[in-house]
Amino acid sequence: MTLQSMTAMLKRAQKYAYAVGAFNILDYNSMKAVVDAAEELHSPVIIQTSVKTVLFWGYEPVIAWARQLAENATVSIAIHLDHCKDLKVIQNCIDAGWTSVMIDASTMPFEENIALTQKTLEMARPKNISVEAELGAIVGVEDDIHVKEQDAHLADPEQAVQFCHTLAIDCFAPAIGTAHGVYKGEPRIAYHRIEEIARRTGVPLALHGGTGLSEDVFYRCIALGCAKVNISTQLKYAHINGFVDYHLQNKVYNPLKPLQAQYEALKAAVMENIKLFGSEGKA
Ligand code: 13P
Repeated sequence: MTLQSMTAMLKRAQKYAYAVGAFNILDYNSMKAVVDAAEELHSPVIIQTSVKTVLFWGYEPVIAWARQLAENATVSIAIHLDHCKDLKVIQNCIDAGWTSVMIDASTMPFEENIALTQKTLEMARPKNISVEAELGAIVGVEDDIHVKEQDAHLADPEQAVQFCHTLAIDCFAPAIGTAHGVYKGEPRIAYHRIEEIARRTGVPLALHGGTGLSEDVFYRCIALGCAKVNISTQLKYAHINGFVDYHLQNKVYNPLKPLQAQYEALKAAVMENIKLFGSEGKA
């Protein structure tokens, strides 16, 4: 299969009340683990790349891995640029072959957020590339974007409606009480707000800060209209621990062994999430 945008897969997920997992990858091993997990469970999947990861490897190697993995897969796969506030990086990803991008202008005033998102849509639409945009401020650190607890604020439903009616985005990420990174206490999810925003905008919602949420939280958010769930921190832990634990237990200086253990840990984490999100068998 060729790589595709998120548009159709998210519309379908929204219609049938499940969510597609968007998994932040770090390298070829983690990308392969994500695709193999989706393939094994016959699930659509979103390969998600942070700006830092893209700049670390370069655009061409990352898109080449994704194309090669997608070609050999039978499930629907999108490659999506996560939280990006730099239009140059977005343009480079579009030119390289990314099928989906996120413009994160959520720290800017409302009108500027709209203007930058509109610009992104103009860049993406001619190539049928899907666009995700954010409103409100999601607490925590994601890539180069740091939002302190005192600066976090939930998306305002009236603004959300105006935002989504002005912009033909494919996926909307309103801040609704989740956080990037490891949760310090019980997250306070604004379920009413999710319900109202999903109902009044009609746009598939993205649930950011997926790591550490309980099954119950996932089920409720997905039932209310979250059609995309982002998982990053859990995979960072699996990436490091999968490798290090193997090495500490075996002390064999054959790097392919801990890399294999890392792959298995990542694949298991992705499979666990795909099952939770209800996208198994929906490829
Ligand atoms: P976590 O790191 O909390 O899983 O959040 C991921 C995310 O929302 C990426 O945009």
